[in-house]
Amino acid sequence: MARLEVDILTLFPRMCAGYLGESILGKAQEAGLLAATITDIRDHATGKHRVCDDAPYGGGAGMVMKPEPLVEAIEAARARLPGAWVVLTSPRGARLDQALARRFAEHGRLILACGRYEGVDERVMTAVDMQVSIGDFVLTGGELAALCVVDAAARLVPGVLGNAASADAESFAGAEGLLEYPQYTRPPEFRGMRVPEVLLSGDHRRIERWRRREALRATRERRPDLFTRVSLPESDLRLIDAGDDEL
Ligand code: ADE
Repeated sequence: MARLEVDILTLFPRMCAGYLGESILGKAQEAGLLAATITDIRDHATGKHRVCDDAPYGGGAGMVMKPEPLVEAIEAARARLPGAWVVLTSPRGARLDQALARRFAEHGRLILACGRYEGVDERVMTAVDMQVSIGDFVLTGGELAALCVVDAAARLVPGVLGNAASADAESFAGAEGLLEYPQYTRPPEFRGMRVPEVLLSGDHRRIERWRRREALRATRERRPDLFTRVSLPESDLRLIDAGDDEL
C-alpha cells in the first residue's frame, strides 16, 4: 500500500504537530497512510544552551542557523528514512506546484528541513537535495512551507481523501490545469442569491457542460497565465462564451 513518510526537522515542533494531527492528515496518520515524525533540531545541538543560531559572518542584521545541528539532524533522519529526498524550505527554492507535490507523493519519503531566522548557513546545502519555496513572499520560518508540502503530497496518496475522485477533479490536478468550477450547496437561495438553475435541473450532461464553461471562464479571468498555457480543444473555445440556453 502506498504511503507517505515524512520527517520534519524544525526548531518549533509544536507549530507542526497541531496541524498534522487534525482533520484529513490526522485520519491519514491513524490509517497508516501518512507517517509523520517531527524532529526538534535543538536535540542535535551541543553545549549547555544548545545554541542553533549565530551572527552572520560579514555583519548584517539577524541570525543565521548554524550548520552543525541541522546537518546532524538531516543525517539522523536519512538513517531512519533511507532514500528520502531532503528538502529545505526557503524563499530561494523552486516554487512548489501540483506537479512537484505529485512527485513528492510518488517518491513517498521526504525529510523537510525548516529554515529559520534570517537564513541558513550555506554549507548546509551539501546535505540537502533541493530547496522549495511556496511563493514569492518571506515567512518568519519554513514550518508553514513544510506543512504545505506535506499536505499537498499526502492528499494525493490513494485513500487519504475519502472520495478517490476528488483529488483529480480539483484545480490544477485535472489533466489540463484549469481552475475549479464554482460549488454550491443548500439553501437554494441565500440573501437573494440563487443557485444557478442548471445545477438544480438533474440534467447531468448540462451540468457537466456548465461546470466546464465556468472552469474555463474562471481560468481565463483570474489566471490568464495558466489559460494561455493549456491547449484546449475547439469545443472548449466554443463553450466558453456559450449562453446557458446553449449548454
Ligand atoms: N521560508 C520563508 N519564506 C518561505 C517561503 N516563501 N517558502 C518556503 N520557505 C520559506
